[in-house]
Amino acid sequence: MKILIIGNGGREHALAWKIAQSPLVKKIYCAPGNPGIAEIAECVDIEADNIEGLYNFALKQKVDFTIVGPEDPLVAGIVDRFRDGNLVIFGPNKRAAIIEGSKIFAKTLMKKHGIPTAEFKVFDDIKLAKKHISTSDFPLIIKADGLAKGKGVSVCKTIDEANKYIDDIMRDKIFGPAGDKIIIEEFLSGKEVSILAFTDGKTIVPLSPVQDHKAVNDGDKGPNTGGMGAYTPVPQITLELQCAIEEDILVPVIHAMKRENRLYRGIIYAGLMITSTGPKVLEFNARFGDPETQVLLVQMKTDLVPLLLATTTSKLEDEKIEWNNGASICVIMASKGYPDKYEKGLEISGLEKLKGLDDVYIFHAGTTIRDGKIITNGGRVLGVTARGKNIQNAQETVYDAIQNINFEGAHYRRDIGAKVIYQKS
Ligand SMILES: Nc1ncnc2c1ncn2[C@@H]1O[C@H](COP(=O)(O)OP(=O)(O)O)[C@@H](O)[C@H]1O
Ligand SMILES: [Mg+2]
Repeated sequence: MKILIIGNGGREHALAWKIAQSPLVKKIYCAPGNPGIAEIAECVDIEADNIEGLYNFALKQKVDFTIVGPEDPLVAGIVDRFRDGNLVIFGPNKRAAIIEGSKIFAKTLMKKHGIPTAEFKVFDDIKLAKKHISTSDFPLIIKADGLAKGKGVSVCKTIDEANKYIDDIMRDKIFGPAGDKIIIEEFLSGKEVSILAFTDGKTIVPLSPVQDHKAVNDGDKGPNTGGMGAYTPVPQITLELQCAIEEDILVPVIHAMKRENRLYRGIIYAGLMITSTGPKVLEFNARFGDPETQVLLVQMKTDLVPLLLATTTSKLEDEKIEWNNGASICVIMASKGYPDKYEKGLEISGLEKLKGLDDVYIFHAGTTIRDGKIITNGGRVLGVTARGKNIQNAQETVYDAIQNINFEGAHYRRDIGAKVIYQKS
């Protein structure tokens, strides 16, 4: 089979790495890819949002199966375009991807179908939104309705912060039309966890639970990022809790989508808060997470390609996933200044020292090549990932590996995995 992967991050590098191991696959293209991906796939210079360009490429090269990484092309309808042209593609269509594309859609769906989530109100008027918060309890959460590259949510501790965020989104339009409407919702406290599952609209096959780390600094301090690290499995998410999540959240949401005539096929990603009254949904994503994918795929024993195909052709009921023993951890090395302004173009050294190691995987994200050298080209630069016989072991390996890699101003969290280790000891 010829495969096309769309995207250029660590998630897509992990997908390419895993797919390259499938005996079903002869050739992998990635658009646009990155230097890490270029070691295992042919990168083609077409951006992920150029749907017509991607379609024409897949048609011309006789690509058998396309896999979409990021949310923007899904929400824009790339799956519909490929299917209309008789090409096989993995991911939800436009009507289904709205579950990520509009947070108001997702919240309204959950309310209508009794799926546990925070209390909320929707506003399209600044004055009414501000009037509402003048009598609200704090902290509260404000969310832009549309896609905002993971930056459209603020946990507001005071009324001043909330008023300013409402002005930023609705008056100054920092997220453009994605902020025409907002959600103001109840603050939930608890432990955050991500559950991803394959679904073909009938059958649900959940993946191992993942602990993401959104905040930029150790101890979950500082502003939120695209994700600074992850590990799997998550010992606190017991089998019993996993069953409850499947029964109370995953099954109902897939049924709800079907009943709304929005058959969902692809990865459904539930961002959850495990509260004292049980798991509640923070949001749904319509794709693999980043860096969740990195830790999940190095732990996955099963060939990924049949799973992706079965999801796409509604044959998931025959599929099972086997996992490697132990645990995996991914630590993101980021550019100085990220998630705010950062410099690009700094040389990265030491990568060659980690080549060929059995249990360490370097997934590229914001990198590019200049004069034959790998340089930084984004906020999240590398996802250093390791496997181990348990989380502690994987943690030691990952932090040893990181010592070998250098670029000016590189920063990373030093506490990925620590929560589990300290709770156990
Ligand atoms: N109701 C809530 N209570 C507490 N924290 C929340 C709530 N909603 C979102 N958050 C926090 O904000 C982060 C981002 O929110 P989310 O809904 O996942 O949007 P996005 O990933 O699109 O930015 C979450 O990972 C979580 O840490
Ligand atoms: Mg999220």
